[in-house]
Amino acid sequence: MAKTLILYFSVYDSTRRLAEEIARQTGGDLLEIEPVIPYDKNRDHYDALAAYAKKEHDEDQRPAIKNAIDLSDYDTVFIGYPMWWYTFPMIIYTLFDTVNFSGKTLVPFNTHMGSRDGGTYKTVREKARGATVLEGLAVSMKEAEVGAGKSVEKWLTKLGLKK
Ligand SMILES: Cc1cc2nc3c(=O)[nH]c(=O)nc-3n(C[C@H](O)[C@H](O)[C@H](O)COP(=O)(O)O)c2cc1C
Repeated sequence: MAKTLILYFSVYDSTRRLAEEIARQTGGDLLEIEPVIPYDKNRDHYDALAAYAKKEHDEDQRPAIKNAIDLSDYDTVFIGYPMWWYTFPMIIYTLFDTVNFSGKTLVPFNTHMGSRDGGTYKTVREKARGATVLEGLAVSMKEAEVGAGKSVEKWLTKLGLKK
């Protein structure tokens, strides 16, 4: 039977909330991408996180992933992340450098505060060689925090992935 994984990275939990909604509506499994060095989840420290992430971006770093990302049981893999500095958090580049997505159906989704997908869905197509990449869903942080149930339903129905 076709199996679905919802793989996501989240610091402030809005992408996590969106991932949980996608899992609920697809019946897929959830897997969080955990960094070796955790990011500060305290929103009062936003400026420090922004500066830290900017440095990672400008230095083209590849922050290490702590947990094993094993896709062998799955045909369809959703990949979720927040917009950081107009692109992926650098740990998503680590993911594409270390995990082989060939033969999978990939479905990107992300949260943002205005940049929508920031062109990242195109980059997913370039990075995930040998994968079939479907239409993504970009949701504002505000909507994601309340689940974005309707947007998710509309998108999954269009893709034929709603359970
Ligand atoms: C370091 C950092 C950089 C960000 N850069 C952008 C950006 O370039 N464009 C944008 O729309 N939102 C940006 N945001 C806002 C996040 O995309 C938004 O808060 C997102 O929903 C957070 O996801 P999370 O709750 O799963 O961590 C940034 C947030 C952080 C912390």
